[in-house]
Amino acid sequence: MRVIVAKDYEELSKKAANIISSQITLKPNSVLGLATGSTPIGTYRELVRLYNEGNISFKEVVTFNLDEYYGLDSNNQQSYAYYMNQQLFNHIDIKKDNINIPNGMTEDIGLECKNYEKKIRQANGIDIQLLGIGRNGHIGFNEPDVKFEALTHLVELDEDTIKANSRFFASIDDVPKLAISMGIKTIMQSRSIILLASGAEKAKTIHHMILEKITPELPASVLQLHPNVTVILDEEAALLLTEGDLLEMEA
Ligand code: GLP
Repeated sequence: MRVIVAKDYEELSKKAANIISSQITLKPNSVLGLATGSTPIGTYRELVRLYNEGNISFKEVVTFNLDEYYGLDSNNQQSYAYYMNQQLFNHIDIKKDNINIPNGMTEDIGLECKNYEKKIRQANGIDIQLLGIGRNGHIGFNEPDVKFEALTHLVELDEDTIKANSRFFASIDDVPKLAISMGIKTIMQSRSIILLASGAEKAKTIHHMILEKITPELPASVLQLHPNVTVILDEEAALLLTEGDLLEMEA
């Protein structure tokens, strides 16, 4: 794992956007895996800025989002489809047909998941997957005690995640209990991964993810086994990593 400590959220967002924009410059038809949550918002803002300044084009880019709440349609303001339109897609030149997000309203979950995997394969896999991380170490919606071999599937959200994500809903009872998420195997098949974490409340999870044992209890710890992961932290999220830890990872 390569670990970059940015001085603050602003710098973290710029660094992440720069990596994604060089990927698009080098390969204009890149396949991007995208994440939601509050952490990538700054990265999307930067990408929109780079696009507006004429530095990058998304004309040939294909995207696959990690997850979607089950039971929310794309017009629902809490859906991840709505979030993606607001934060990124409405502001760039991406083709609608090149955007892929699991359909939270599907009547056939098994088929939806199978087709999602098929589409990723047909696109020749994900070049760069952007990830945030839940306080409990989830990536996508792969909650603790996850099966590392899982592909896209229906997941039951953890109490902790429902509580954490209730800040975006009118009440905690409105938070869906289920979601469709890429599995750990889907994520691990990406050619490269960028994981972002900001704020002190993620520091303990980040320490475990990078330095402690690989376990399904902390799903993101599996990333230690991926050959091309860049972790971008702000100083608060890096609080529990010593300089020695960081040097050792550079070696
Ligand atoms: C949600 C998403 C995750 C995201 C996590 C963290 O649960 N499914 O992909 O990483 O939230 O969110 P935040 O960045 O707001 O802390």
